Amino acid sequence: MRRKLLVGNWKMNKLVSEAKEFALASRDLAKKAKENNIDLGVCPTYLSLQTVKENASKDMIVGAQNVHFKESGAFTGEISIPMLKELGIDWSLVGHSERRTYDNETDEKCNLKIKALLQNQMVPLYCVGETLNEFEAGQTKEVVGRQVRVGLKELAAEDVKDIVIAYEPVWSIGTGKNASTEIAQDICKFIRDVLREMFGDVADGIRVLYGGSVKPENVKAYLSCPDVDGALVGGASLKIDSYEALLNNIL
Ligand code: 13P
Repeated sequence: MRRKLLVGNWKMNKLVSEAKEFALASRDLAKKAKENNIDLGVCPTYLSLQTVKENASKDMIVGAQNVHFKESGAFTGEISIPMLKELGIDWSLVGHSERRTYDNETDEKCNLKIKALLQNQMVPLYCVGETLNEFEAGQTKEVVGRQVRVGLKELAAEDVKDIVIAYEPVWSIGTGKNASTEIAQDICKFIRDVLREMFGDVADGIRVLYGGSVKPENVKAYLSCPDVDGALVGGASLKIDSYEALLNNIL
């Protein structure tokens, strides 16, 4: 049985003071989620990670939005896994489409990051998804299949059992043009089939999320799909009322 998972990706939003306010206001929500067997998380900016970790409930997953695969060195502007671990952060997004688009995050680079996170007992939340051109050309499964296969290459079944995959069609992110539940189910099931091919029955325990214009009004429909285990939410996760409504609507 896969536990439901709701994660907010704050992207480049919120001052530290705003993040702290959210963290404090979210304490009861994390408790409510736990009582209902739902995992709740947020991915603040690096600057707010410590504040959110310290002020949110212990039950709240606090993840980074990115990480470097090397432990230390001459990589100006980067943050390493030991730096996150020192703050008690043990999740990180990998391969978000905005990083793939603006920061040259390739499948190969994602693979290095995922391997480094797993070697350090951290949970990668690996984002995959096709662009509008690829969607319109009918290439979704080819693209997503490649992203999963390359991103998770050279790993064993026991390594990947706790990873989380998020299917986020690029054309649905921040556009209000969300994928239909049929598409979300079809591609999340496809991802699980690829995982089964690569890792066997472990695939049945790996959580696959949908992301892209998820709102309180549509979150329940996505989570009612048999292969959609949760949601990765951008815009609708920023305000505590909306975040609470997302949770309430899947209880
Ligand atoms: P929106 O929910 O704003 O479309 O963003 C989705 C996303 O990119 C989450 O990582």
